[in-house]
Amino acid sequence: MKKTQEKLFCLIGNPVSHSLSPVMHRAAFEAIHFHACYHAFLVSDLAGAIKGIRSLGISGVSVTIPFKEAVIPYLDNIDENVRRIGAANTILNQEGQLVGFNTDSQGFMRALRRVENPKGKKVIVLGAGGAARAIVYALVTQGAQVTILNRTREKGEKLAQEFSCSFASWEQKDTIEGDMIVNTTPVGMYPHTDETPVDASHLSRFNLVVDIIYHPVETKLIRLAHHAGLKTLSGVDMFIYQGAEQFRLWTGLEPPIEVMHQAVMEALKDEA
Ligand SMILES: NC(=O)c1ccc[n+]([C@@H]2O[C@H](COP(=O)([O-])OP(=O)(O)OC[C@H]3O[C@@H](n4cnc5c(N)ncnc54)[C@H](OP(=O)(O)O)[C@@H]3O)[C@@H](O)[C@H]2O)c1
Repeated sequence: MKKTQEKLFCLIGNPVSHSLSPVMHRAAFEAIHFHACYHAFLVSDLAGAIKGIRSLGISGVSVTIPFKEAVIPYLDNIDENVRRIGAANTILNQEGQLVGFNTDSQGFMRALRRVENPKGKKVIVLGAGGAARAIVYALVTQGAQVTILNRTREKGEKLAQEFSCSFASWEQKDTIEGDMIVNTTPVGMYPHTDETPVDASHLSRFNLVVDIIYHPVETKLIRLAHHAGLKTLSGVDMFIYQGAEQFRLWTGLEPPIEVMHQAVMEALKDEA
């Protein structure tokens, strides 16, 4: 039987060693017998990496820290989400034209909608980095009233201004009230698993606590909220849904979500 040409997909970032994107996408390709491979590349020269993607004919790329914003000028086209958010986490190679997409915002909304409709809710967002941009965009688009708190004031103020939402100083995280709080900082991420951006005594002012960190699956923040009897959402679902949207863009096929979920959970269990 004649085999189809193997398609190439990859991740570019720095660091990439702890990313679960290779595990997740390889499992998805295998599950639907899609003839493709996926590799993680540790990149220090972004311009060179993009040249490589073009010349090697790589079909699709996941983009992670620190290139989500920096990659945009190297692309031939970007979709409306990327233009609004100012960051791209996905590249699709359309017959030599590199097109940028952002699936983080869709991934976050799809995960959030399983537990809450943010319309009209007062949402506190901790952090103003690349992930926060996608999340604030998603929340504002869905009609939430967002307040951003960030350690570096200027960056938080700038993001708040761009999306016409409120800003409060980082120190107010222990007094500010809202329906829901979303941690988009890496505080509590492996290996610093004993850290939390907000202590237990300050969590009862919220109904829902969201942490977009997925390693570990249950961060200290989520554990404290859970013990306080609050609704919680970890970053695993967002991670899988953003990956599922990448898969859909690259293959045009329905992503095998269950398989992707299982592969990620297995990998996280092995690393715990
Ligand atoms: N679940 C998912 O699918 C998903 C997707 C994307 C990202 N993530 C996770 O989200 C986190 C952030 O990623 P990112 O791409 O947004 O990173 P980033 O662009 O580097 O932004 C990090 C943000 O966190 C703040 N921050 C960093 N360390 C802090 C500390 N010790 N105390 C207080 N604030 C701190 C930074 O504040 P300053 O402005 O003061 O530096 C900045 O606002 C990572 O843990 C990443 O794994 C998850």
